[in-house]
Amino acid sequence: MKHASLFECIECGFQGPKYYGRCPQCQAWNSLVESAEPDETEVADSEPGRAPQKIGAIDPQGISRLLTGMDEFDRVLGGGIVAHSVILIGGEPGVGKSTLLLEVSALLSQKGKRVLYYSGEESAVQIKIRAERLAVNSDDILLFTIGTLEDLQRHVKEIKPDFLIVDSIQTISSKKASSLSGSVSSLRYVTASIIEMAKRSGITVFIIGHITKEGQLAGPKTLEHMVDAVLYFQGETQADIRLLRAEKNRFGPVNEIGIFQMTEKGLVSVKDPCQVLLQNRRSQAPGTAIFPAMNGLRPLLTEIQALVSESPFAGNPRRIAIGFDNYRLSMLLSIIEKKLKLPFYKSDVFLNITGGMIIREPAADLAVCSALIASYKNISANPNAVLMGEVGLTGEIRPISFLETRLKEAIRQGFSNFCLPASQRQFAINQDLSVFYVENIVDFYQAMKK
Ligand SMILES: Nc1ncnc2c1ncn2[C@@H]1O[C@H](COP(=O)(O)OP(=O)(O)OP(=O)(O)O)[C@@H](O)[C@H]1O
Ligand SMILES: [Mg+2]
Repeated sequence: MKHASLFECIECGFQGPKYYGRCPQCQAWNSLVESAEPDETEVADSEPGRAPQKIGAIDPQGISRLLTGMDEFDRVLGGGIVAHSVILIGGEPGVGKSTLLLEVSALLSQKGKRVLYYSGEESAVQIKIRAERLAVNSDDILLFTIGTLEDLQRHVKEIKPDFLIVDSIQTISSKKASSLSGSVSSLRYVTASIIEMAKRSGITVFIIGHITKEGQLAGPKTLEHMVDAVLYFQGETQADIRLLRAEKNRFGPVNEIGIFQMTEKGLVSVKDPCQVLLQNRRSQAPGTAIFPAMNGLRPLLTEIQALVSESPFAGNPRRIAIGFDNYRLSMLLSIIEKKLKLPFYKSDVFLNITGGMIIREPAADLAVCSALIASYKNISANPNAVLMGEVGLTGEIRPISFLETRLKEAIRQGFSNFCLPASQRQFAINQDLSVFYVENIVDFYQAMKK
């Protein structure tokens, strides 16, 4: 029976019989792709033998975690790789995705695991050269280059690997979905087939995905819904730093980040990231502030920079935040304008969280305000002060979480000047610290001007 044409939105799943330039449901542009309608008989012929079971009867020991030994990688996964999970790793071209997974493969293979590495982008020789450069123990890794989904399924059936690496999902096509080759539907079909294969045969899969210029995984957002974890590998040109960030994780926290340094010999886990993040700091420059941002349970001292300059666009100044929420920046600017009578509406404002970090915590409000005010007034507010506190809409400084953990890390890094919420006075530690407790943003501004 011939399949009827069906158009489906990759963003919201809307289905219709004809193509629309703009999805009538979610209003996304160019998001409709043609896909074949499932055959009724295919659904009817379901496989017998997989009966539902009681949750109580399931053995939790079946889920185990495996530590690769690469500390930062294990950390981002929430404490090792969960068996039988499917993990998607996205990153820009050349950031080091293949390097990372070849190193992980070598570590797994050393632990006696059977690893099958599929590469649709590089020849076997190229991968051998990389393995030699990285000096990893790759002799037992099974390599398979440039093939189809069906070849891969056959190899998996024969080899029964513990781990499968797919480098990359965009380079693998299926004979069954050949009419849709290269399309989003094909990508989704291939991913779904690999996930099904993984869950049935009990293998753990790492899928590499390219990302677009906008920083999204090339292909549908639905790819991210299908897998157990989504990690993004990002590059920082400065000092060859690479950040691995969990965007989604069904088995662990998502705010963990792993920090690596890219060297000729491959990726090296960075033991003391604060040192790397703060190493190029020009401490006297106005418009900066230090804030210990929580990444999972680990505080990382991060420099927040602001640039406030007169706007050439009267009445419509620019507000650009990198690594910080734009709405929150607007809110903080409005609080400063109202409470401190500083006319920011005439200025362009740029806010940058250095080192490619992303801060989503309200606890950074005070540090952000300090950087903004310092840049606006061109004052070098104590450059070695560490600021923490949430700023409320009435300008009050509200308490924050993990205060002690953050304080300890800042003290360990040699900071001794702090600006903290007045409501958290009880946390004053018996050490030689200079602490300024802030009640509200007006008090803070008065102290800054002195
Ligand atoms: N000899 C070397 N010394 C130091 N770094 C190197 C060396 N060779 C390669 N690299 C680093 O490795 C990166 C390429 O790594 P890799 O091929 O793993 O990236 P990728 O993300 O898989 O790229 P692609 O998107 O092309 O598949 C380079 O951008 C460079 O930073
Ligand atoms: Mg690659």
